[in-house]
Amino acid sequence: MSEASRELRVNLGERSYPILIGQGLLGTTDLSPYVRGERVMIVTNTVVAPLYLEQATLCFPGKIVDSVILPDGEQHKDWQTLNRIFDALLEQRHSRHTTVVALGGGVVGDMAGFAAATYQRGVQFIQIPTTLLSQVDSSVGGKTGINHPLGKNMVGAFHQPQVVLIDTDTLATLPPREIPAGLAEVIKYGLIRDLPFLEWLESNIAALTELDTAALSEAILRSCTCKAEVVAIDEHEGGLRAILNLGHTFGHAMETFAGYGQWLHGEAVGAGMVMAADLSHRLGLINQESLERVRYLIKRAGLPDRAPGGMRPDDFLERMAVDKKNVDGHLRLILLRAPGEAVITSDFDHALLVDTLNAFCGKS
Ligand code: NAD
Ligand code: GLY
Repeated sequence: MSEASRELRVNLGERSYPILIGQGLLGTTDLSPYVRGERVMIVTNTVVAPLYLEQATLCFPGKIVDSVILPDGEQHKDWQTLNRIFDALLEQRHSRHTTVVALGGGVVGDMAGFAAATYQRGVQFIQIPTTLLSQVDSSVGGKTGINHPLGKNMVGAFHQPQVVLIDTDTLATLPPREIPAGLAEVIKYGLIRDLPFLEWLESNIAALTELDTAALSEAILRSCTCKAEVVAIDEHEGGLRAILNLGHTFGHAMETFAGYGQWLHGEAVGAGMVMAADLSHRLGLINQESLERVRYLIKRAGLPDRAPGGMRPDDFLERMAVDKKNVDGHLRLILLRAPGEAVITSDFDHALLVDTLNAFCGKS
């Protein structure tokens, strides 16, 4: 790794692993020490393969490298597409000593990780995330899975990677809409537990949307640091880790209502965080100024601050009822006690939740 590269660690005892962050890492970093056996299966998709598959293969000198290329898009994060990974592993006779490598965004990462968690009861796994969202969030922490028509990420497993390789150069080829989507998860870290980072984001949001390399690297480093800390404290989401879902209960409802792939995950999370801030304000947890602070940052990041057209409060309530954070039928939400401090609660006035939903539905 060059001097400009950085290494973080996710501390999970015997499942600890490094996150390598820098420019020009793909194709130049030797990841073979993280591969236990002789074989590797790179899982990628039709968009990422022509861009980065050849370089990714070079990260495994001395290993036999196969690949499987999936269709692109959130609408393919399902059983059928997952099965194509198992088909490839079985057809190429991969044993339980193989290593599955995810090369792509969060969709590829979540599916490849779930395949690794379950193929022959679990094989090793490496993350090479290539979107901003996957570099700051989904590649770290071991959540893997697929969607169900009735709910986002409803089928999955915890399965930690051996290493995460983040080459920030890959962001240069991202479609413009994917940058704000990734920034939503970056802003999340500032809002839930890092006020100095939130303040830094408020000063640097324009540089980030303009793809300033130094600003993006800093944002990725600080986001991964925050995520690694939370995951190290609560790997399996017994408590604290739920704060990483700020805006996600509202967001998942919007994503499924709009149809997978119509609203990007990060866009839905962005609007969902404004809704969480709005409810926090109605409950007297934060003041109007803090609510407007959240809304302003989300808008400056280029994210929506309203629900998809045609969505009604009942559409939210129906979908929010199947959220994974709910306990014994009680809706549990991540709200804000202050900018930089999240709270997990089931203790809120349902009528105020409906007021929030009404305020965001039908808004143009
Ligand atoms: P994505 O994986 O769909 O990628 C977005 C688009 O960019 C796709 O078309 C992809 O093919 C393309 N792409 C990827 N890298 C590229 C590159 N370098 N250049 C050009 N195009 C590129 O979307 P995403 O935002 O990365 O991930 C969203 C998914 O992540 C959702 O399914 C969400 O549920 C999941 N997620 C998981 C976790 C977790 O902890 N596991 C956390 C957050 C989100
Ligand atoms: N993105 C939520 C989590 O990793 O817990």
